[in-house]
Amino acid sequence: MSEVLIGEWQALHDETPLPVRERLAAFIESRAGELAEYFYSQMLTDPATGFYLSHKQVEDRLKPSMALWLRRIFDASPDTDIEALFALQRHVGEVHARIGVPVEFVARGARRLVNRIIVEYGDVLTERAEWAEAARFVSDSIGIPLEVMASAYTGSYRSRCPLR
Ligand code: HEM
Repeated sequence: MSEVLIGEWQALHDETPLPVRERLAAFIESRAGELAEYFYSQMLTDPATGFYLSHKQVEDRLKPSMALWLRRIFDASPDTDIEALFALQRHVGEVHARIGVPVEFVARGARRLVNRIIVEYGDVLTERAEWAEAARFVSDSIGIPLEVMASAYTGSYRSRCPLR
């Protein structure tokens, strides 16, 4: 599994022109705090997800952690270390699995982040021609980590199955 996903992630970076990634990274850098704020305010509003959170924990640790996670995912350095990014997703997945946050809530959060970023970026993007590339990059840059995080719930990446 890890080889397939690492390969897809690397291909995503290789196939997306660097200027597209750089513009998107600058946008994320400027909005990471607001995106984290949006994410956790949604999670706190719903009692089902709010059950796993406290306001203090969100303010003190979770918003900064989410903002940093976003900056790392969208970092546009030409030599991004995909294996290190991958290992980070395993760690984050294991943290959520350990505290018992249902994986469907993690998926919901990921879906909302993708939507929010694509819509907000669309509002400010002046280079309309790169809209499709940027949207694909956003979708996969959060979708791939979500797959890695989900695998932490089952430990499937530790499986010896040669097909993974
Ligand atoms: C795309 C979805 C999500 C991402 C990217 C994400 C990201 C993170 C990150 C980076 C951390 C810090 C991990 C560390 O300690 O190194 C964290 C911790 C945490 N997250 Fe999330 N999270 C997501 C979804 C959720 C959801 C849906 C909930 C609850 C409803 C949640 C609750 C928590 C809690 C309670 C911790 C603190 C765990 C601890 O330190 O004991 N997260 N998250």
